Amino acid sequence: MMDQVNNADTADSTYKSLYKLGGAAALIVAVLTLSEVIGLAFYPQPGTVSGWFTLFQRNKLIGLLDFWGLEVPMYVMFIIVFLALYVVLRKANQGLMVIALTFALLGIGIFLATNNPFAMLSLSNQYAAATTDAERSTFLAAGQALLANTNQRAVGGFNMGLFLVSVAGLIVSSVMFQSKSFSRLTAYVGILAYALSLADYLRQALTTSAIVALLVILPNALFLVIWFVLVGWRLYQLRRLEGKTLPKQPGGNMSASVLVAYATRYGSTQEVAEAVAATLRECGLEVDIQPMRKVRTLARYRAVVLGAPLFMFHWHKDALGFLSRHRRELVERPVAVFALGPVHDPHDEKEWEDSRSQLDKELAKHPWFKPIALEMFGGKYDPAKLGFPLNKMAGKEPASDIRDWTAIRAWATSLAPRLQSAPS
Ligand SMILES: Cc1cc2nc3c(=O)[nH]c(=O)nc-3n(C[C@H](O)[C@H](O)[C@H](O)COP(=O)(O)O)c2cc1C
Repeated sequence: MMDQVNNADTADSTYKSLYKLGGAAALIVAVLTLSEVIGLAFYPQPGTVSGWFTLFQRNKLIGLLDFWGLEVPMYVMFIIVFLALYVVLRKANQGLMVIALTFALLGIGIFLATNNPFAMLSLSNQYAAATTDAERSTFLAAGQALLANTNQRAVGGFNMGLFLVSVAGLIVSSVMFQSKSFSRLTAYVGILAYALSLADYLRQALTTSAIVALLVILPNALFLVIWFVLVGWRLYQLRRLEGKTLPKQPGGNMSASVLVAYATRYGSTQEVAEAVAATLRECGLEVDIQPMRKVRTLARYRAVVLGAPLFMFHWHKDALGFLSRHRRELVERPVAVFALGPVHDPHDEKEWEDSRSQLDKELAKHPWFKPIALEMFGGKYDPAKLGFPLNKMAGKEPASDIRDWTAIRAWATSLAPRLQSAPS
């Protein structure tokens, strides 16, 4: 099941600090990328080696910044980010992640070896101190070689380091689709960002147009920044999840508990949820019970029971919100659902059919949601509890409580073995 992928992705607390560092490193990369784009916009790069030397002599900091100086710490940060991504995603696709990590580390090494803003600064200093034309032309030639070696984004240029890291990013983003640890949005943004990085090589080969360059480089930088923010934030979350929600059991498993989550307006569904929880406990399960709106994560639960009443032809809004909010975790676990609806006494078959079709309609809005059990129970109606304007709208319908406690407990008992056998 997918939760095995997910839990395996996140369960190893040995890597907790790597996630934290990876999260911080990714956010630093996002800030550095943004700073580089803004810096380059304000201080355009010179077109010649002597232009570079002059710039370095005029302002060393701007010279370093223009000579992709921020990318040096950025690529160092990449090491931590890619290691953390490898650890998180290796269970989803070990083969591809090994290739991605190898490409990334090799690319980072090549990049750091070929991008040396301090070498350019040093050449510029020597050029400034040179006393003869022969000396100066030697330093100009050396500067030209350094520039050619760097070969970033220059027309006809090809920086192998950048290329390998972009391929690694593309692979990592595609593996994200196979894992529940990252959202699909993160995967799509990553694919777009790194595809644009690679497209830039085509641009370099095909055109000298500055407009085309901007049209590729700006969205490329934007998507990269978004990707690193998403990745950084998620790595941080994964670290927190580990600490809080995956306590080690004696057998090494995550907690075996079941969550009964309910929504209620007048309290009757809460009482049914309590009866379901009590029955499951009697069957030997470890059960937590919580109002849906208070649930932040399902990480420590192997299975979930959801209960909510119907109101005005709709399922309680907390329940619909819960499905949307916890979609990723719900698809990974067995989920049983009950709803309260019919209130007429004696039994009115038409009312039960209507309530059932209301519930089916609501659940059909979430076609991904496949509960292992779905049950409708009779509810409770107390006109005295209705506030304005419902109390004015309500007719002379008498109070009723048709909750069938025997049926409720029997349903919970029948669920127990299926929830118990859910993989932890
Ligand atoms: C104002 C109001 C509207 C209701 N609308 C529906 C409905 O559209 N369909 C249905 O099956 N039950 C409906 N019911 C019945 C409730 O689902 C039932 O009373 C339930 O037990 C209430 O749960 P709660 O006490 O947990 O809030 C409605 C009840 C009230 C008071």
